[in-house]
Amino acid sequence: MNVPIDDRLIDAAARLISGAKKLAVLSGAGISAESGVPTFRGSDGLWEGHRIEEVATPHAFRQDPALVWRFYNQRRANLTTIQPNPGHHALADLERRQFPDGRFTLITQNVDGLHHAAGSERVLELHGNLRRTRCSRCELVADQGLVPLEERPICLECGGLLRPDIVWFGEMLPPTIWEQAAIATATCDAFLVVGTSAVVYPAAGLISAAKQAGAAIIEVNLTETEASELADIALHGPSGEILPQLARRLQSSN
Ligand code: OAD
Repeated sequence: MNVPIDDRLIDAAARLISGAKKLAVLSGAGISAESGVPTFRGSDGLWEGHRIEEVATPHAFRQDPALVWRFYNQRRANLTTIQPNPGHHALADLERRQFPDGRFTLITQNVDGLHHAAGSERVLELHGNLRRTRCSRCELVADQGLVPLEERPICLECGGLLRPDIVWFGEMLPPTIWEQAAIATATCDAFLVVGTSAVVYPAAGLISAAKQAGAAIIEVNLTETEASELADIALHGPSGEILPQLARRLQSSN
């Protein structure tokens, strides 16, 4: 399907991006929707009758680690058959061709690893990654790939209970990654917001921080969101179609 998106809007967005010395991107679940990864606030938003907030909290893990691990094992299993889509690839191309030498930062709220899989290099994962575990006793972080884990996986170093290396509701973001995201936001000239409802903080606060720092804001989303009123240009449609159009326009303008 080709989206009848106004060519003039794509041109205007391409001009803002090509005029930028530094580009920062904030992505959310919507960019992975066309790969088959469900978004958080779509459909009924429930998993086995639980709201995401009920299985993604430190409290839920203390109460019932097996339930929380069933949820995360299901999400890990879903990833084994999932590939990056043209939206992820377009961002990787943009970094490689238009913004080499560290002038591009991709800040993602996603935990699916699809930006890395598409070849993006400077990726800041604000909310962690489904492939990793962290020991709740000794804090050791380990990449477990996507093999199924037990319902109460144990740390081989200290015998503590492993948890997903994911930021849960009520927890702080990893400080170093957050600091890098804040710097990239404050120093970019254009800020591209893709596939996020922009309601979860502190990530969503980066959009107004970029605006205040003087960056042009470009939004790509199926619908209007909380970010739309900050956007200089809003491109409404699937990111798997809009981002490749934008990347092609940028290449042809070079
Ligand atoms: P949401 O599920 O809140 O929002 C997904 C957004 O993607 C919506 O605005 C959709 O309109 C848009 N969308 C869906 N399909 C799209 C497509 N094909 N192309 C473009 N846009 C599309 O997801 P996030 O904003 O990422 O946090 O949610 C933020 C955080 O809330 C997540 O990182 C997660 C969740 O709780 C944690 O787990 C800590």
